[in-house]
Amino acid sequence: MEAQGREEAGGCAGAPGGPLFTREEVARRNSSREAWLVIHGRVYDVTRFLAEHPGGEEVLLEQAGRDATESFEDVGHSADAREMLKEYYIGEIHPHDRKNEGSKEPNVTSSGQTSFWSTWLIPIFGALVLGLMYRYYMLDGKSS
Ligand code: HEM
Repeated sequence: MEAQGREEAGGCAGAPGGPLFTREEVARRNSSREAWLVIHGRVYDVTRFLAEHPGGEEVLLEQAGRDATESFEDVGHSADAREMLKEYYIGEIHPHDRKNEGSKEPNVTSSGQTSFWSTWLIPIFGALVLGLMYRYYMLDGKSS
């Protein structure tokens, strides 16, 4: 029952399903004596899990005290692994601190803009080069 409530809370970022923690509080739990990490705005105490993690304790310790969302997703954890998260759930990142997490987004946007330009500039440049090559080829053909 409790787990269900937590899941619902996770679905809606505005409705915290557990105690709220600041990122600073999480950052302090970055050792093998106490290891917390953040995945999708939720805080997990993985201290008990360190020795059991199939991916090894080093990777967890590396992420301890931090937002591990990206690394967790990069590994492509199974549905079972996601299910296991519930066991270590202790609360949510404070809504004020979620903005910090989102600070990655402007980077994505700005790099998105860069990729927008490269997406357009590269084909335009390529078309120009091809056009010029075609012209030279045609002129060459006529002169010889
Ligand atoms: C509470 C959080 C986590 C849980 C419950 C968890 C659980 C698991 C489980 C059950 C596996 C076995 C494979 C699978 O079922 O997907 C696994 C593998 C692995 N995990 Fe995690 N994991 C967590 C966090 C992390 C983090 C933060 C990293 C950071 C890089 C990580 C890296 C890995 C790696 C590298 C493997 C091995 C993958 C392989 O051998 O194919 N895990 N994890």
